[in-house]
Amino acid sequence: MSQPAPNVAPTPAAQLTRAELEAYWMPFTANRQFKERPRILARASGMYYWTHDGRQILDATAGMWCVNAGHGRPEIAEAVARQLETLDYGPAFQMGHPGAFELANEVVKISPKGLDHVFFTNSGSESVDTALKIALAYHRVRGEATRTRLIGRERGYHGVGFGGISVGGIAPNRKMWSSSLVPGVDHLSHTHDLAKNAFSRGEPEHGAHLADELERLVVLHDASTIAAVIVEPIAGSTGVLIPPKGYLKRLREICDRHGILLIFDEVITGFGRTGSPFAAQEFGVTPDMITCAKGLTNGCVPMGAVIVKKEIYDAFMQGPPNAIELFHGYTYSAHPVACAAGIATLKIYEREGLLTRAKELAKYWEDAAHDLRGLPGVIDIRNYGLILGLELEPIPGKPGARAFDVYLKCFERGLLVRQTGDILAMSPPLIVEKSHIDQMFGLLREVLRAG
Ligand SMILES: Cc1ncc(COP(=O)(O)O)c(C=O)c1O
Repeated sequence: MSQPAPNVAPTPAAQLTRAELEAYWMPFTANRQFKERPRILARASGMYYWTHDGRQILDATAGMWCVNAGHGRPEIAEAVARQLETLDYGPAFQMGHPGAFELANEVVKISPKGLDHVFFTNSGSESVDTALKIALAYHRVRGEATRTRLIGRERGYHGVGFGGISVGGIAPNRKMWSSSLVPGVDHLSHTHDLAKNAFSRGEPEHGAHLADELERLVVLHDASTIAAVIVEPIAGSTGVLIPPKGYLKRLREICDRHGILLIFDEVITGFGRTGSPFAAQEFGVTPDMITCAKGLTNGCVPMGAVIVKKEIYDAFMQGPPNAIELFHGYTYSAHPVACAAGIATLKIYEREGLLTRAKELAKYWEDAAHDLRGLPGVIDIRNYGLILGLELEPIPGKPGARAFDVYLKCFERGLLVRQTGDILAMSPPLIVEKSHIDQMFGLLREVLRAG
């Protein structure tokens, strides 16, 4: 099952000295620790990475939840190369190119019914800030300018823009900038309840009532001040929190009752990870906007998007037709190269049935995951589609240290997992085979057993 290493000479990275590692300030990384013992990836193909010194690493995280069709897809590389030769760049404002319209149409085809307009960005963070801005502007153009309040959720991750960290609910991402956060934001409680839901398979039984907190916030602030609620259907970065049964439906009902927009941040759940194209379809709840990125281009070229309900788009299409309707956009919105990558990616997803493949493998994945129950330190295993969260008992006084140690040991053994706090997350490329799943959980078992 292991693949031969692509036949390439060692990359220059293999020769990098400690001094040469210095200039790059790495994001969300313990820079000094990393630079003492760097983990340098040199190549990737299919389900595998290869390190600069030629070690093969099984990718149990689809890069960072983005390489849904597996690594090194030649169709995408060819489409990108062709695009660079044909039209490398065109102004994004007051100009268009065919790929932008084609990709928007393809995204709409796989989106929940009624979400039929697409605003392109370059990342998940930009998608979130764009969606929040559209929500505020939407109420304003409809004459409800008092709706300025945004509601997020504790433990939510919505990227690193000021909007995203304001509605986000992860303290280290907020505290440095606490006095500069978007004003008027409030938060729902998170839904993680180990006491009641540990070792749930799929959606946990307990916690739908937590959506009712939105009613409390409506009583506190009045609906006329609330623009939108944003949640991840499955919270990923905070450690894989699966929505309790009925929770998302209840949120939808409360939003509807009070004229509040519901935004699903599907930056990780989009493009097949749950077993449906979007988690919205999987859980049978249609939001007013979906933010996405990552899997849109198979992670090859930075790109994000906000998929918007017709009513929202239409609300802006008023006034003189020669007037710009939304003063927002990026130099690289709908970049031709990103669009080419996106179109090629969506074709692969369709041809290979990848947007629903997680459903076929979900039971196998779940059984393999829950087989780890009882191993030292494992206090919860939770799963949905091809997503796993495995929570470890923290070492007293050293939060995160235990899971980081497991992460390092897995990497040394040839397995890439993700670590956040004392939680390990896995979610492989959707081309994963049962044999890969066996290998992933086999390796993880050995590392956990060794303690
Ligand atoms: C739910 C969610 N929203 C937003 C983001 C931010 O995306 P990006 O890192 O592309 O800005 C992420 C990234 O992991 C995410 O998981």
